[in-house]
Amino acid sequence: QTEEEEIRIGFSQAMLNDEWRQSMNNAMELQASLYPNVTLEISNANYNVQQQIEQLKNFIGDSVDIIIVSPIQSKPITPIVEEAMKAGIPVLVVDRKTDNQKYTAYVGADNIEVGRNAGNIIVSNVQDSLSVVEIRGLAGSSPAEERSLGFHQILDKFPKIKFAGTIEGDWEKESITESLRELLSRTGPVDYIFAHNDRMAMGAWEVARNLAMEGQIKIIGVDGLNGPNGGIQLVKDGVLSATILYPTGGAEAIDIALKILKAEVVPTNNILSTTVIDRFNADIMQNQFTKINEQQGLIESQISAIKRQEQLYYSQNNILKIIITF
Ligand code: FRU
Repeated sequence: QTEEEEIRIGFSQAMLNDEWRQSMNNAMELQASLYPNVTLEISNANYNVQQQIEQLKNFIGDSVDIIIVSPIQSKPITPIVEEAMKAGIPVLVVDRKTDNQKYTAYVGADNIEVGRNAGNIIVSNVQDSLSVVEIRGLAGSSPAEERSLGFHQILDKFPKIKFAGTIEGDWEKESITESLRELLSRTGPVDYIFAHNDRMAMGAWEVARNLAMEGQIKIIGVDGLNGPNGGIQLVKDGVLSATILYPTGGAEAIDIALKILKAEVVPTNNILSTTVIDRFNADIMQNQFTKINEQQGLIESQISAIKRQEQLYYSQNNILKIIITF
């Protein structure tokens, strides 16, 4: 093994209480562990913007080699990202963006396309008039703004499609249950609900079920995680009529960060592909992701086997040195 320079990556994760974020962190950790010279420090900003700013300040103070950040909201995180750049530390923004392009690069899916995908599902089913509710993610976070933009780009061209209401959520289902219950009790069942993520989509389904409307409303979410609580399963169970895949980009973030540090040319926008998952492809998607997970598990156990061998080698080597000095 050649002596490579130590690389320190500081990652500020917006929050860690959902499976999408956990899977992003896992992917990052696994990818980073492939490079013995890379240290990845992950800090969890816990939905607290002030805390996220502090974390970035600390990374700047520590002179990490590169900062990766998934900003809780765009505006408040913009100045500190600029500050890092001015201090000569490259910044890679993942999933959520800051307000200007003053970062080294972005990696994530195109959230305008995510919104358009959801809109296209609805317009391809429009015959007579349709009523739609949009449930938005946290205001001021770029995926919420962009998903909404893309969704409206498609639907606003169809006068037969009427918005029965827009619900302001914060990405978590608790944020939308009361207002959705109130809205649906007033309007009666709508044809479609587009929720900006699967957790809020699940919340929407629960509200609909409590009002005995679940059979009449088609719900579309975003994320499409694999696993028992993930969006793919919800599609298979008929809870969601579709979910739009939103890859976490964890592994890609590490690779791009390392390229930036090697001074390779990296595009400013590294766009991950998204796709519609519905009852026609949910099975195949689930199989594919399960296979990928199995592969990852295998890689993880191989890495820890290598580490055990290394430790054994070093301790034997030390014993040898002691014997020789005697
Ligand atoms: C996870 C999450 C996802 C959503 C993404 C948007 O914390 O809420 O459900 O797609 O963030 O940034």
